[in-house]
This record gives sequence, C-alpha cells and structure tokens, in this order.
Amino acid sequence: MTLTAVKGFNDILPDESRRWQHIEQTARRVFELNGFGEIRVPVMEKTELFCRSIGDATDIVEKEMYTFTDKGENSVTLRPEGTAGVMRAFIEHKLYAQDPVAKLYYMGPMFRYERPQKGRYRQFHQIGAEITGVHDPLADAQVLNMLATFFREIGLTEPTLQINSLGCPECRPAYRTALRSFLEERLGALCEDCKRRFATNPLRTLDCKVPGCIESTAGAPSVLEHLCKGCDDHFSTVKHYLDLSATPYSINARMVRGLDYYTRTTFEMVTGLLGSQSAVAAGGRYDGLISQLGGPAIPGIGFAMGLERVALLLGSQEFTTLPDLFIATMGSSERDVAFSLLDGLIKSGVRVEMDYEGKSLKSQMRRADKLKARYSVVIGENEVAAERATFKRMADGLQSDAALTVSGIQTLVMKSEQ
Ligand code: HAM
Repeated sequence: MTLTAVKGFNDILPDESRRWQHIEQTARRVFELNGFGEIRVPVMEKTELFCRSIGDATDIVEKEMYTFTDKGENSVTLRPEGTAGVMRAFIEHKLYAQDPVAKLYYMGPMFRYERPQKGRYRQFHQIGAEITGVHDPLADAQVLNMLATFFREIGLTEPTLQINSLGCPECRPAYRTALRSFLEERLGALCEDCKRRFATNPLRTLDCKVPGCIESTAGAPSVLEHLCKGCDDHFSTVKHYLDLSATPYSINARMVRGLDYYTRTTFEMVTGLLGSQSAVAAGGRYDGLISQLGGPAIPGIGFAMGLERVALLLGSQEFTTLPDLFIATMGSSERDVAFSLLDGLIKSGVRVEMDYEGKSLKSQMRRADKLKARYSVVIGENEVAAERATFKRMADGLQSDAALTVSGIQTLVMKSEQ
C-alpha cells in the first residue's frame, strides 16, 4: 500500500509555494518597515504553557491540541498558535530587560486537531506579529494599520476589519454575570456545547454557529455597554487613531475570541469568500498574559493571519517565474557547449533549462513549450563553429541572431525584458 500524508497535513507543491513566498515576503517587508524583527521559536512546548495562556476551558485546549508524553515522561504539545511560545521566549530570555517594547514577528506551522475542510487544516501556517510594553492605544492602531497595509500591498480588498473590546478583569466579570443571567432564561434552546460554555466560558456562546444559538443570543447584552471608564476610553482612542489614518473598520460587539488571554481590543479580518472559515487574520490585546506566565506586568498586543486562507484569497494569480531560455541541441556533441552556457547563464542570473536526456529535437521543442520558456535556441555544429545562433522568441516567433556566449545571450534576454 502506498503511504499518504496524515489527514489534515498538506504538502505545499512548488507553484503553491511561490504564492506562499510572495505572501511571506510581503509580510516581512511591511513588518520590517514597522520596526518588527523576526523571532523563531520551537514548534513544540510544554503542555502547561498552552493551558495557562490559551485557557483550560477553550476549544483549543479542551479538544484540539496534539498533546503527548515524550520518552522522558514529559507532557508536550505541538503549538496550536504562536503568541504563547513567543511570550514564553520573551520572558525566558528577559528581552524586557533591555527594552520592554519588543516588536516581534514569526511565521510557521501550527497544529490543531480540527475537522479538516477548505481553509481549515490540522497543520496550518500562521504569520503573526506582537508588540509588548505599550499600554497606549497607539500600539493597537499601529498593529491594525500594519495588518491593513499588508492586505493592501498584497492586492486584496477582502478581507475587512472588525473590531471589538472585551474589557478587562475589572469590568468583564460584571458583563459575564449580565450575559449569564440573559442566557439562563434561554438555556433550553442552546446546543449541548453552549450549555457547557454557559458554565465555563459564557462569552463563547456568542460565537456559536448553530442557528438555534444565534437566534437565542440575538438580543444578548453588549460587552461594549459594560466597559469600565479605562476600557471605554481606550476603545474610543483606538477608533480615533484608525479614523486618523483612514483605516476602514466596523464594530462587531459579538466578536469573542477562542483564546482566553485577551483584554480590551480584539479584532478579526473577515471575508465572505471562504465559506464558514471567515477569519483570515485575528488578534487583540493581552495585557495580563506576560505576568500570568511568570513575567513582569507588561502588556502586549498582536495578531496572526492564516497563510493558507490568504493564499486561497489570492486565488489563481500566477507567481511562477518562467525560464528565460531553453537550450536545445542537435546532437550529443553540442551538449558540452549547452551545459557550459547553462551553467554560466545561471551564475549570471538568467533562468535557463536544457534537455537532460538526449531526446529528439522535436521532443526538446515540446519541452520548451511546456516550460513556457521565453526564448529557445537550437545549437548544432554550425552554431558551435560560428559561436552565433538564432534565438526564437516563443510568444511571437520573432528571430534574433546573437553571439553564443553568456554575455551575448544575457544582453538579448535582458533587452527584451524591458
Ligand atoms: P486565532 O484566531 O486562533 O488566533 O488564529 C489566527 C488565524 O489563524 C485565524 O484567523 C485563521 O486565519 C488561522 N487559523 C486558525 N486555525 C486554523 C486552521 N485550523 N486552519 C487554517 N487556518 C487556521 C491566534 O492564533 C492568536 N495567537 C492570534 C494573536 C496573536 N493574538 C494576539 N497575537
């Protein structure tokens, strides 16, 4: 029996990889412009890190983690998200000692045992960014603007930004109580999951996709009406800065996040183009997380986007770089010349292909077509002797005579690129 990949774990083949590289490069450029530096943390952490940060009563920790005991009897988990590991590293390396304001970004695989479908996988990839050490709403606005700039630069008008505030440990308990008493009267109409959430994590009922729950929670109290003065002012200032920088957004008071560490500002970039997987990027402020993990009382805010979802939105846009030239040979005696040219041209930055297997001229030309080479050249005894050849522009058949040297070919190929 042939072996296949594990369900929900995908191979990324070269054409798709190019799309990914384009996304990664755009993110790196935009993030570096904003003063962020890359951090690379392990894909596996002690299980306790995720229980203490994401929260024991979240879907991620309750049922989606790849947790196992290693040979040393330690409970370890493949990271389901990036923020916890980055903050663990921030504390472990005392990055705050030099400067509490750290701007960090990361990209890589994350793992969640979810039911795979379009846009939702068990191994997926995030590109994320985090700022620590800033209480001021300026940081919230910069992070949101950076995300919006990324999507603009990549050429997507979808997704759109939705923001909310989840309050803080001072005002959220009162909201939770208000929500619970609202839900209590409707408990019978809620799904089994929400009945459980009612006790453990009532805010999550607002995020349930079951039609009965959406209907029953339609008139639920709004978190925005329960913010304390500090959280209310913070949220107003975030909106002020977004208006100032002309970043479009809408307010979604029902947005609750699937991770427990959030305080105040939360946000999602949502799209209607990916079915039920509507969040392309998401994040928020986590002012208590660093101290909760044993670090100093330093606030943080950040986001992560799903690379696969961004790639799906980019759709069929081509990111393949095509060969500049295909070198065909009449016979085996020209293969030395062809190979030297191939080698020299590649070293000079020209993308060249040739026949590797001594195929017939007809099949070599078929391959030149298949590879969509911009130019082709056929080298025979005469061309080798004269050190000149006729180059054919494949798109329109235009023929040009040029020296059969690295610089001659380079000049021809570069000239036609302009
Ligand atoms: P999250 O909302 O759990 O937040 O995930 C962020 C993004 O990762 C989602 O919006 C989605 O695009 C993508 N994603 C999540 N699960 C999957 C999956 N199974 N398959 C494909 N894509 C997926 C976080 O992870 C937070 N750490 C974000 C953050 C950073 N908050 C503050 N800083």
